[in-house]
Amino acid sequence: MKLFDVYPLFDITPVKGDGIYLYDGAGNRYMDLYGGHAVISIGHSHPHYIQQLTEQAGKIGFYSNSVKNPMQQELADKLGEISGYNDYQLFLCNSGAEANENALKLASFHNGRNKIIAFEKSFHGRTSLAVAATDDARLKAIVNNSHDIIFLPFNDPNAFAAAMGSDVCAVIIEGIQGVGGVNIPDAAFLQLLRSECTKHGAALILDEIQSGYGRSGYFFAHQYVGITADLVTVAKGMGNGFPIAAVLISPDFKATYGLLGTTFGGNYLACAAGIAVLDVLKAESLIDNAKELGQYLIGKLQTIEGIKEVRGMGLMIGIELYSAADTLRGDLLTTHHIFTGSASNKNVLRILPPLTITKDEIDIFLTALQSSLNKVLL
Ligand SMILES: Cc1ncc(COP(=O)(O)O)c(C=O)c1O
Repeated sequence: MKLFDVYPLFDITPVKGDGIYLYDGAGNRYMDLYGGHAVISIGHSHPHYIQQLTEQAGKIGFYSNSVKNPMQQELADKLGEISGYNDYQLFLCNSGAEANENALKLASFHNGRNKIIAFEKSFHGRTSLAVAATDDARLKAIVNNSHDIIFLPFNDPNAFAAAMGSDVCAVIIEGIQGVGGVNIPDAAFLQLLRSECTKHGAALILDEIQSGYGRSGYFFAHQYVGITADLVTVAKGMGNGFPIAAVLISPDFKATYGLLGTTFGGNYLACAAGIAVLDVLKAESLIDNAKELGQYLIGKLQTIEGIKEVRGMGLMIGIELYSAADTLRGDLLTTHHIFTGSASNKNVLRILPPLTITKDEIDIFLTALQSSLNKVLL
């Protein structure tokens, strides 16, 4: 059987990961400044993570959600504490798209409405409602076009105020737009979304799937403003590569048996991964590291000639060039063995390293970037 050929591949076969590095079979080392789409939060093959997962695999890996699994509560307690969302409820699932599907569905269960507001350049996943709320026509089949979704300009309070009303079920926005090219919602804009959702009885959904879990220097990016969402979705960094995702749900939303469900969500191995990530984030002060080193990196990038704009918060950074970034990205990989990411905005290079990165490693990247820029801008 052939693989369904949907991914353009680099000619690289990693066989081992360690911290911010990947190694191929020939022993070549690659610096991973992309974390496989912001997934690697605590570094590849972190010893505590390996130990917890290995130990758990030796005990029990899976049973369905029809029996008690105290690891789910341990994960919920630790997540509540570190995020400040202690009084929220946790629903565990498997992927970012699934978390957003469930969040949108919960909003509609809650207020009985179906109109959703999303924003230009958004990315919320590839399943039914999640892809319908994603601003990229290429990703949608005709069957995805039957939902009542409107896309408003990002950071435009007037357009939002004009569109908002008591017929709106939910407003969904990324903590920081990732795939769209690292775009940060203004503080005043987020505050407006919060107050208008409250006023009209709509659910405010913060998609923190890429920007959450400490990446921004806050546990959730939207916490830089001090607002609280009704529903927060998480995935990616939550399991450091083990598939796990979740919805944090306001106490105003009432659970009933059967309202949501999943076969694999919240299994023992996923919980072991999720707990290990939270333990390491805390023990190694990785959120502070993201804030401090993010500021350092952004500051340095802003002094480099040939870069049009640097956007970011913590270790979620977009470097916008005056032209397409693919040649630069290719040179960083082939000449300097550094992985970086692209964005739907072709001029943007995305930098999403493990939160364990050090200043010395950032300096190595800056030297390589300058050298690649000199080459491609010639
Ligand atoms: C902001 C955001 N939401 C949702 C998703 C979808 O997550 P998944 O690929 O796990 O379904 C992504 C993935 O890139 C994302 O960046």
